Amino acid sequence: MKELSIALLPGDGIGVEIMPEARRVLDLISQRFNVTLNYREFDWGTQYYFQHGRMMPADGVDQLREFDAILLGAVGHPEVPDHTTLNGLLLPIRRSFDQYACERPAKLYAGVASPLANKKPGSIDMVIVRENTEGEYSQVGGTLYQDTPEAVAIQTSVFTRRGIDRIVRHAFSLAQRRNGKMKVTSITKSNAQGYSMVLWDRTFAEVAEEFPNIETESLLVDAAAMNFVRRPESFDVVVGSNLFGDILSDLAAIITGSLGLAPSSNLNPPRKYPSMFEPVHGSAPDIAGQGIANPLAMILSAGMMAEFLGLPEAARVIENAVASVLSGGKRLPPDLGGTASTAEVTAAVLDKLKQ
Ligand code: NAD
Ligand code: IPM
Ligand code: MN
Repeated sequence: MKELSIALLPGDGIGVEIMPEARRVLDLISQRFNVTLNYREFDWGTQYYFQHGRMMPADGVDQLREFDAILLGAVGHPEVPDHTTLNGLLLPIRRSFDQYACERPAKLYAGVASPLANKKPGSIDMVIVRENTEGEYSQVGGTLYQDTPEAVAIQTSVFTRRGIDRIVRHAFSLAQRRNGKMKVTSITKSNAQGYSMVLWDRTFAEVAEEFPNIETESLLVDAAAMNFVRRPESFDVVVGSNLFGDILSDLAAIITGSLGLAPSSNLNPPRKYPSMFEPVHGSAPDIAGQGIANPLAMILSAGMMAEFLGLPEAARVIENAVASVLSGGKRLPPDLGGTASTAEVTAAVLDKLKQ
C-alpha cells in the first residue's frame, strides 16, 4: 500500500476551521484509493507567536523537510503586523523549499454565478502560474532613519534569468499538458520597469520559440486586469511575477465566483523538497470563528496535492464531487449565495464522494 506523509499547518483564522474539513475528505479518499496518509499537525501560527515570540520554531523548516507534502490553511492575525506573521511562516517555507511554481486554477463551475454578466459554466477556465520565490518578494532591502520624518525604505525586486526561464517553461509545459486553449499569456510592466520586466519579456519570447504549437500573448499588467474582466474566456495559462501573480489570483478567483473556491499549489517541480498546497485566500478575520468559511478552496487544494503526489484519479474524484455540490446548488456557503455552514458544505462533498 502506498504511504504518504503530510504536514498539516492550519495556521490562523479560518485556516483552523477549514483544515479539518480537508482532512475529512482526504480520509475518505485514502480508504477509497488504498493509500495511507500519515499526518502530523503543527500548531504554528499567531497563537504560537503569542506564546513563543515567533511563528514557528527556529528549526521549523527542517522539521518539514522530510514530509511528502505540506497542507496549509492560512496565516495572518489582525493583532500582529502581516509582515511579521507572513515572513515568519508562509513565505520562508515557499523560499526554503524552492517552491518556485505557484499554480492557481480559476474555473467557472456550473451552479456558480460570476459577478460578470452572462458567463456560461466552463467559459472561464484558466491557471495563473505565479513565480513564487523571487521578484518583488525577494526581501532584499532595508530601512534608514525609521520612525523619523526622514524615513527611507528600500525594497529591491530581484529577477534572475534562471528564475524567469524556469517559471516560463513551467507555464508552457502546463499549457501543453492541460490541452485547453494551448495558450500562454505573459504579464509584465515593461513600459515602466525597464530592467526586470524587459528581461522577463525577452526570456518569455526565447522560451516561446521552443513551443511553436502554443499560442502566446504578452500583456501589461494593467491591461491584463482589464482583460480579465472584458474577455476572461480568452485566457488559458497566465504566467507572471510573484506580485502580479498574487494580485491577478484574487481577480481570477472572484470572476469565477469566490475566493472561497480558489485552490493553489506551491510546487518544487524537481521534488527535491516538499511542495505546499493552500487556498489562495487568507485567514479572513472578518468571518473567522463563525463556522461559515467556505471549505472548498481548501478541499480543492488537497485535491491538487493528491494529483502532485501521484494520485490523479483521486484529484479528479475530489474535483468532481465539489463540482457536483456546486451544480446541485443546495448546500452552498454564504460566499456563494447559500446558507450552509462550513461543516455542511463538507458533508455535501462527502455525500457525493460516497455515491
Ligand atoms: P482574505 O483572503 O483573508 O479575505 C478577503 C475576503 O474574502 C474577506 O471578506 C473574507 O471573508 C473572504 N473570504 C476569504 N476566504 C473565504 C472563504 N474560504 N470563505 C468565505 N469567504 C472568504 O484576505 P484579507 O482580508 O486581505 O487578509 C486577511 C489576513 O490573511 C491578512 O493577515 C493577510 O495578510 C492574510 N493572508 C494570508 C494568506 C495566506 O496565508 N496564504 C493569503 C492572503 C491573505
Ligand atoms: C497569497 C497571499 C500571500 C502572498 C501573502 C499573505 C504574503 O496573498 O498567497 O496569495 O502574497 O503570497
Ligand atoms: Mn494573495
